Amino acid sequence: MAENFKKFKIPSGMKDILPADAYLWQEIEDKARAAFNLYGYKPLRTPLLEEEGLFNRSLGNETEIVKKQMFVIRHGEDTYALRPEATAGVVRAYIENNLDKTDSFVKLYYFGPMFRAERPQKGRLRQFHHIGAEALGSNSPYLDSEIISLIKHILDALGISGYELKLNSLGCPEDKQKLSRILQDRLKDETEKLCPDCNERLNRNVFRVLDCKNENCKQVVSRLSLAPENYLCPECSEHFSAVKKNLDKLNINYTLSPHLVRGLDYYNRTIFEISHKDLGAQDALGAGGRYDNLIFELGGPKSGAVGFALGIERLLLVAGCRPAAAGQTKVFVVTLGEEAKKEGFQVLDKLREADIASDMDYENKSLKGQMRKANDLKVKFTILIGDEELKKQSLLLKDMASGAQEEISLDRSVEEIKKRL
Ligand code: HAM
Repeated sequence: MAENFKKFKIPSGMKDILPADAYLWQEIEDKARAAFNLYGYKPLRTPLLEEEGLFNRSLGNETEIVKKQMFVIRHGEDTYALRPEATAGVVRAYIENNLDKTDSFVKLYYFGPMFRAERPQKGRLRQFHHIGAEALGSNSPYLDSEIISLIKHILDALGISGYELKLNSLGCPEDKQKLSRILQDRLKDETEKLCPDCNERLNRNVFRVLDCKNENCKQVVSRLSLAPENYLCPECSEHFSAVKKNLDKLNINYTLSPHLVRGLDYYNRTIFEISHKDLGAQDALGAGGRYDNLIFELGGPKSGAVGFALGIERLLLVAGCRPAAAGQTKVFVVTLGEEAKKEGFQVLDKLREADIASDMDYENKSLKGQMRKANDLKVKFTILIGDEELKKQSLLLKDMASGAQEEISLDRSVEEIKKRL
């Protein structure tokens, strides 16, 4: 009969996170949450769906994400997209909920799934998860350094080392224009070596040539000599110097990477990427930077912002597998017969009300089977209830380490067990 039923498979590039791994995820999230609390960031949850236009506008029409990777959902007249990243949604929420008026400066963090229709491979999924933060409403270079220090704090807490922080500055919109012209000028004689996409990008958005994965394009790009001094205005240069000086003072190592431009259009001034040598082709653990014009471009006030996101799946690849911190059941209720089970079920409820993690058998196991289960769960105590105990309105409490048993009256059972835990 079963062969008539279709067995469904998980969509390509997506993963079930089974309990043993999910404990590890919780640990990562707990450590990140502790770091966010320490640095004064508050939690924010935004929807997984946003209007498609929000992403086109924020990330840029010429980006790989918008052109090729968005999961678009049409519903009636409306077109939504599953969020490929969270920064745009956070800025939308900041403006829509008037956070700029109540708090002017606000530091927010989030965890959650992002969706990009990429070709799946190791470390590259279609549903992946971000730990991210956005600080909105300030141009201070201290904030850029704080965000980077916060990332380091999280990576340290997860015991991750061997990563490299790549740093660059794109400057203000005028500087970006200047950089764009420098790039166009340097690349105009290389058009034959560039892929057809990059030939188009040359005029439409030349920065995207620097992110191209095509080997020939990568070679052309690697030969380009670029330096922020050639395009940063005095204010942006000063901002970048302050960020670097603050990082030096905090003993945070970085590599100046003039080729780093990041694959999203909203960035300006400081940008960074954290790569890890053990990650292979998809080597970015996380990334971020400033986006001082996005709030204004989405209808909010003219105020600066900076943020980052770390990919949880990639953190897991380098954090190594540590033992999962499973929730520990302390007491297992073993019963013999239906009446005893009814009584046991009530005791179980009282134990849980008293905050004692406890469980019982739901598979009609034999006495031996129930004891085996209690052993597997490594509980401290088992409670045994059979006909004899029912008659006496008592239970047998067995200490699993010593094997010692004692009889306790049912009405005092919870407080007696609590004393012994
Ligand atoms: P992003 O560089 O696109 O930045 O993504 C951040 C991180 O997410 C990457 O470094 C990587 O670890 C992970 N990631 C990205 N795509 C995938 C994928 N397909 N599979 C697995 N992991 C992936 C952003 O999204 C920006 N919103 C970061 C930001 C926040 N900038 C300012 N604020």
